[in-house]
Amino acid sequence: MLLKLENVSKGFGKPGDPGFQPVLDHLSMEVSYGEHIAILGPSGSGKTTLLNLIGGMDHPDTGSVQFNGKDITGYSRQEMDRFRNQSIGFVFQFHHLLPQCTLMENILVPTLVERDKSLRAEKIDRAGALMNRVGIWEYRNKFPGKLSGGECQRAAVVRAMINNPALLLADEPTGALDSENVERMADLLLELNSEDGLTLLLVTHSASLAKRMGKTLELRKGNLEQI
Ligand SMILES: Nc1ncnc2c1ncn2[C@@H]1O[C@H](COP(=O)(O)OP(=O)(O)OP(=O)(O)O)[C@@H](O)[C@H]1O
Ligand SMILES: [Mg+2]
Repeated sequence: MLLKLENVSKGFGKPGDPGFQPVLDHLSMEVSYGEHIAILGPSGSGKTTLLNLIGGMDHPDTGSVQFNGKDITGYSRQEMDRFRNQSIGFVFQFHHLLPQCTLMENILVPTLVERDKSLRAEKIDRAGALMNRVGIWEYRNKFPGKLSGGECQRAAVVRAMINNPALLLADEPTGALDSENVERMADLLLELNSEDGLTLLLVTHSASLAKRMGKTLELRKGNLEQI
């Protein structure tokens, strides 16, 4: 099992206070190696909150998140940083590219900790190949402010995959793409899934992207249901 969540609860505010807002309620889920899963759910249902817990960007109030059999909720800051850099690719809901860096530089940010020159050269090749596959190679030297939302979004997906993560967590990775580019993105993600065994967990409002995934779950009232 690649990922296992057991009885995860998360809310915002102080438990017991009148302003406390429960979001996830004793949620459990299991994700096997190589699965591809779409997560649907209304706005405010907790989809981003759930991805943040899995990616170690936030802590659950109760329950555990296990990755490869290890409970990540007890990781130190340093262990968490290493785990995220090496094992998780994260595509944020709003792409979070650095405006002062070109697309290529943005994509290479997660590789900066790599000291080995030949491994770094491999990553640069990988960046080029992936950019080509989603159609943004020609924009590699442009700055995000001069590009469309869809072009930036495709760069954010490439950046998330640059270190060959075991798990891609993507928060609406195609929200800014037209239908042709949604299909192209789905093609790339599923090819990486079958070539490299990349496990996919995608939050999406796109019915066509969800349809391409092997399983669809819906987040509702703090819990996941298979649909
Ligand atoms: N840092 C925070 N502090 C307080 N409340 C928060 C925080 N983050 C999220 N929330 C609340 O938790 C609930 C779930 O938010 P979340 O962002 O996970 O929803 P979502 O399913 O991703 O929605 P969307 O589809 O609009 O992106 C919302 O009601 C939101 O207002
Ligand atoms: Mg969200």
